[in-house]
Amino acid sequence: MNLVKPVAADRLPALLRQMPKAELHIHIEGSLEPELIFALARRNGVALPYASVDELRSAYAFTNLQSFLDIYYAGASVLITEQDFYDMARAYFAGAAQDNVVHAELFFDPQTHTARGVSMETVVNGLHRACVDAEAELGVSASLILCFLRHLSEEDAFETLEQALPFREKIIGIGLDSGEVGNPPEKFTRVFARCRELGFHLVAHAGEEGPPAYVWTALDVLKVERIDHGVQSSKDALLMQRLAKDRIALTVCPLSNLKLCVFPDLASHNLRQLLDAGLAATVNSDDPAYFGGYLNENFTQTFAAGPLNAEHAYRLARNSFEASFIDDAAKARHIGRLDETFATFQ
Ligand code: ADE
Ligand code: ZN
Repeated sequence: MNLVKPVAADRLPALLRQMPKAELHIHIEGSLEPELIFALARRNGVALPYASVDELRSAYAFTNLQSFLDIYYAGASVLITEQDFYDMARAYFAGAAQDNVVHAELFFDPQTHTARGVSMETVVNGLHRACVDAEAELGVSASLILCFLRHLSEEDAFETLEQALPFREKIIGIGLDSGEVGNPPEKFTRVFARCRELGFHLVAHAGEEGPPAYVWTALDVLKVERIDHGVQSSKDALLMQRLAKDRIALTVCPLSNLKLCVFPDLASHNLRQLLDAGLAATVNSDDPAYFGGYLNENFTQTFAAGPLNAEHAYRLARNSFEASFIDDAAKARHIGRLDETFATFQ
């Protein structure tokens, strides 16, 4: 489909909610709502340094990525059993289905859990069972991307990979997350090369707070297929040309960027600049329980703040399917439904 009909500004939010879409950048531990954190803490007898849900929520005032990560890793400490991981992911999928997310690729951070004595088997099996049930019961297909924590060593990442290999069939890809500045992609050159040999899809967070140089090395040294965030790329004209030419998708997370002070407000966000430069940008929620909105909120708030139209909406949804790790037949099916939604929308 080449022609997107103009849509009145007051009808855009309905179109954004209704259009089918894929979510490619969601840390499943970042979907843990304060209510579920307290319920799991009670179930597992874990003490929390907050007296109530409200007190925890009021701590969600972040100044940068690290100020968020400190609270995010503490929140994940309530996850102990396979059922906990299942319940967390099921809650995410229930909301995602409401947002017309038809496919999701979930990041998870096993080192956050194995360091506390929770086994890889517990983590992967709980999340995988939720993915299977999401497809069967909600019609949302899903897969798992294991992320290495970049503030830890490459040796630790190699150990984590070894622990994950018995569950190889339940993991589609490998990513890289946590504190970016000072932990460049090239710190993980050898372990990513090994993951590539093993046939995993590869992605990495780069250019969230870190410089364009980190996006270059994620591409050229780690050989990733997508860049998570990547918004700092607009500071490097040559990098923008490279990303456009090779159709490297950026999984952009506007509300995350706002809450972590990457941009002062959504009106200043560079999503439109990325799209208009021909980049395969997508919209995602990152850690929605912490950043004030799931996928449709990311779409509607970003479009309300800036000069984005129905053509941009179509491109963002289409990019989400094209950049996903589903097979070509599934991509064509989803894009067909997307075209139908735009053709019939009034
Ligand atoms: N882990 C969870 N959310 C993250 C983000 N936005 N950046 C890096 N690591 C993360
Ligand atoms: Zn992220």
